[in-house]
Amino acid sequence: MSNPTSNQALNQWVNEMAAMCKPDRIVWCDGSEEERRRLTEEAVAQGILIPLNQQKRPGCYLHRSNPNDVARVEHLTFICTPNREEAGPTNNWMAPDEAYAKLGGLFDGSMKGRTMYVVPYIMGPAGSPISKIGVELTDSIYVVLNMRIMTRMGTIALKQLGESGDFNRGLHSTLDVNPDRRFICHFPQDNTIWSVGSGYGGNVLLGKKCLALRIGSYLGRNEGWLAEHMLILGVESPEGQTTYVAAAFPSQCGKTNFAMLIPPARFKGWKVWTVGDDIAWMKVGSDGRLYAVNPEAGYFGVAPGTNYKSNPNAMESVKRNTIFTNVAMTSDGDVWWEGMDGEPPAELTDWQGRPWRKGSTELAAHPNSRFTAPMANNPALSKHADDPEGVPISAIIFGGRRATTVPLVIQSFNWTHGVYFGSTMGSETTAAAVGKVGVVRRDPFAMLPFCGYHVGDYFAHWLNMQARIPNPPKIFMVNWFRKDTEGKFLWPGYGENMRVLKWIVDRAHVRIGGLETPFGWVPREEDLELSGLDISPERVAAATEVDLDEWRTELEGQGEFFKSVGDRLPRVLDMQRQLFLERATTLTKRKWNTLHHNK
Ligand code: OXD
Ligand code: MN
Repeated sequence: MSNPTSNQALNQWVNEMAAMCKPDRIVWCDGSEEERRRLTEEAVAQGILIPLNQQKRPGCYLHRSNPNDVARVEHLTFICTPNREEAGPTNNWMAPDEAYAKLGGLFDGSMKGRTMYVVPYIMGPAGSPISKIGVELTDSIYVVLNMRIMTRMGTIALKQLGESGDFNRGLHSTLDVNPDRRFICHFPQDNTIWSVGSGYGGNVLLGKKCLALRIGSYLGRNEGWLAEHMLILGVESPEGQTTYVAAAFPSQCGKTNFAMLIPPARFKGWKVWTVGDDIAWMKVGSDGRLYAVNPEAGYFGVAPGTNYKSNPNAMESVKRNTIFTNVAMTSDGDVWWEGMDGEPPAELTDWQGRPWRKGSTELAAHPNSRFTAPMANNPALSKHADDPEGVPISAIIFGGRRATTVPLVIQSFNWTHGVYFGSTMGSETTAAAVGKVGVVRRDPFAMLPFCGYHVGDYFAHWLNMQARIPNPPKIFMVNWFRKDTEGKFLWPGYGENMRVLKWIVDRAHVRIGGLETPFGWVPREEDLELSGLDISPERVAAATEVDLDEWRTELEGQGEFFKSVGDRLPRVLDMQRQLFLERATTLTKRKWNTLHHNK
């Protein structure tokens, strides 16, 4: 499509970037079905997409990335603020002039012989006061087709932008996919992102981690709202009341599964609706509540481990119009990955296009292989997923993977205590990651790789939000991964997490009891709906227990993390920690749970 806009700021910027990148042609994307067909055909002809079995998976394609380009590259991701201090201790920093010069050199002539696609997109529902416009210039058809699923893309975005110059300026070139020439640079002050040398989703779908989280968190701080690495779901009761919660989990903690949870049989009449599975943008509404939208329009989910037990709604979502990246392919042109239902087929083509046989020691699908599926495919999609108003949030949940210490669920005493929960979040490293297994890695608010400014200032922003929210959500921490002394999980997880969610919802509406421990409120056995679940009172007590000796170690570990944040750490957070440490050290009753409570 030829240039459809009279927006001067946009035209000027596209012209400047084109003068630098020197593409053979410029194509403005309109987001139409005709455009999707044309670009898909082109991608197939160039070998960028492989058509899958169209009877089994209509509209589905497979993409194999360069094997050196399969994940987000945190060590090559930079926050380019005028001074290093502003980026803080958790980000890589590069001076803006240096970054523009370095990447400008790489972009110079990078699109010779290629097409520059202009991809205007909205993050958030069209017309929403919470939404933002971005424009991504890219030389990758794969990016265009993914952006088309993940965002509201094309004419709709140009219409919302009008003549305004207020849009995120994203520039992307795959270059020659060389890790030595790979950089993902964010310029928060310029609302600009430059990404070179990668074709992998998290590095190049600039609306997602780059705009919705890194730049978004910076804008949110300046404008008084929150951009968070959170899923959003609605819990509908049999009486028809829907309560919305937002939840932050580090990777590998079952976030997408939780967002698409199917309640167990006992919960007849209960329903969980997905608003979003990865990102929440939250602003205070006129009624003083916190309203959330999912800025995305699709799911960029991890494929391995997804099956009809862990996530039936995700399995349904990838049945059509889905782009798969780095999964394995069956002989009849279907997809496969480790942890899919049933036995692995005898023969496959692996994620690199090589023959694979059952019993091979190599993985058939890459561990970070992905599906890009439109949210409209999700059978549990909330009817408010496209609502410009967003949904009112009654509870915020922080979670992690912890074998000890952190109870199944605990409610904070107040907002500051809840922010402290978020700031001290940790998760144990798993065998899938490099390094020592079972070590607690602090990942505050699950934002460690995504906060676009100093993490201490980010904590302060969260604390300050209290004054802006007259009717704030209640704040909780959950842990599905606590183990018994034999190393077995105490809690069954998956759909059974509905039982915990119900307590959270009931607490949010102040209609159920709990036990006050020195570190927050936990459910007593009678507060959890446990019927139909084969679990002993001792195991429930062990899952929900607060053990002061475990907490003393935890609080000391938190202290080390707080020290690393430096003097921008809000003092109130460390004072909170010290108060708890004093309790953990001096209180004589060491274990707090239902069994001991009743004795
Ligand atoms: C993601 C991530 O891809 O958090 O969502 O890495
Ligand atoms: Mn994520």
